[in-house]
Amino acid sequence: MARETWATRVGFILAAAGSAVGLGNIWRFPWVTAENGGSAFLAVYLGIVLLVGVPGLLAEFVIGRRSNQSPVGALRALSGSRIWGLWGVFYVGTAVALISFYSVVGGWILRYFGESALGLVGARPAYFAAPGRYFGGVAAGLDALGFHLLFLALTALVVFGGVRRGIELGTKVMMPAVLVLLIGLAVWAGARSGAAEAYAFYLSFDIDTIRANVFDVLGPAAGQALFTLSLGAGTMITYASYIDEDRSLPFDATVIAILNTLVGVLAGLVVFPLLFSLGVDPTQTAPGPGALFVGLAGAFAQLPGGALIATTFFGVVVLAALSSSISMLEIPVSFLVDEYSLARRRAVALVTLGVVVTGGLCAINPTLWGTTVFGFVAGSLVDALLTAGLAAVLLFVGWVMGTDALAELRAGGGDLSAAIATPWLLGIGVVLPVFLVFTLLTTFGVSASLGFWPTVLVAVLVGTAAVAGLRTERALV
Ligand code: TRP
Repeated sequence: MARETWATRVGFILAAAGSAVGLGNIWRFPWVTAENGGSAFLAVYLGIVLLVGVPGLLAEFVIGRRSNQSPVGALRALSGSRIWGLWGVFYVGTAVALISFYSVVGGWILRYFGESALGLVGARPAYFAAPGRYFGGVAAGLDALGFHLLFLALTALVVFGGVRRGIELGTKVMMPAVLVLLIGLAVWAGARSGAAEAYAFYLSFDIDTIRANVFDVLGPAAGQALFTLSLGAGTMITYASYIDEDRSLPFDATVIAILNTLVGVLAGLVVFPLLFSLGVDPTQTAPGPGALFVGLAGAFAQLPGGALIATTFFGVVVLAALSSSISMLEIPVSFLVDEYSLARRRAVALVTLGVVVTGGLCAINPTLWGTTVFGFVAGSLVDALLTAGLAAVLLFVGWVMGTDALAELRAGGGDLSAAIATPWLLGIGVVLPVFLVFTLLTTFGVSASLGFWPTVLVAVLVGTAAVAGLRTERALV
């Protein structure tokens, strides 16, 4: 059977943007920005999106479009090495880890959406009374399990429909809806008293904070940029593998990055005026579950007509999360379809059953060896997997594909692609892997104990060792 493809170019762009736009934009981005220097952080973040994010997207796109296969087959075919094929399985595992915690959060959102909607027909949403206590009661255990299953079922339903009639059709509806509703909410929020103060807090250009904390800010900014652009899990490899015509990849990647940033900024323009107008101090709610399900939920409870705003807001978050979770489920599904010739429906059923268990574990959330399962998966595990995953992609494109990658980037890209191709490859193969290792080391606190330049040196050494290893492996093939 012929492999599936996108029906339209816009379909690919919206699907990829849908993957990128998700919880990362709504519950993390505004807070991380506000805490790290407002618009000055935004400037650093935009720089990273442009210099790390877009080239990273291009690396995954090039692998996918060149091979027309899911990550396992793609890495094997392009390198001619089974070892790289095995590394592809790593992405399947990363995707399963991602969707395991993401569908639990998706479940929470569905619950809050449902509760808020009940408020429209006269009932008082249950979380209105005491948001903190309510969330504490439903975040884990059987309550969380049920909604996790519901969210997973919705995700599976879309992926079940296939590339065109499921993912493409779904994201073509979801993405515009997210944008329109968010703009509407931002306009509404901007009219509230306290909006000016909120904008000042969110977007004032605080260069001193940046200057004092550049190295502390680089890590969060890079981590945020990678997660929010869905890099390092093979998602973008998989989506690009369904492209069947050569159009400009740099153009597509830039549009996706812009849409993604726009949604993050818009989310802040909704959230902060709302909180400020009610006298809530946003710095008291850290980015993450507390911000959304306690801080904002509490704000909705105090608003006249809060149920309507809450329903709209959580509706937006449901759509954004769903268009991301389908991109996670699609990775293992495409793996089974491509590698084992499974029918898509069977593959979806099989993977979904697996995530019922792994996600179920995150939903029940027992404490093992001193940490909660959810906290571990959503935090350190996913962070480390994504960073390692992207570093491998970059090294692969830079040192294994090499000139093939240049040719693929140029295909359909016109003069601009040709002009940026070589600098791009150098950046991908040399600068970015070192940068990633560096941020990984800072995340683990190494730079604090070693000092800045010694950490850079370690990063360079690790990068060199990796490249030397690749060269040897290539010589063996
Ligand atoms: N980018 C999404 C968000 O911001 C999450 C996501 C979807 C993702 N697919 C991914 C993250 C693949 C990493 C890798 O919420």
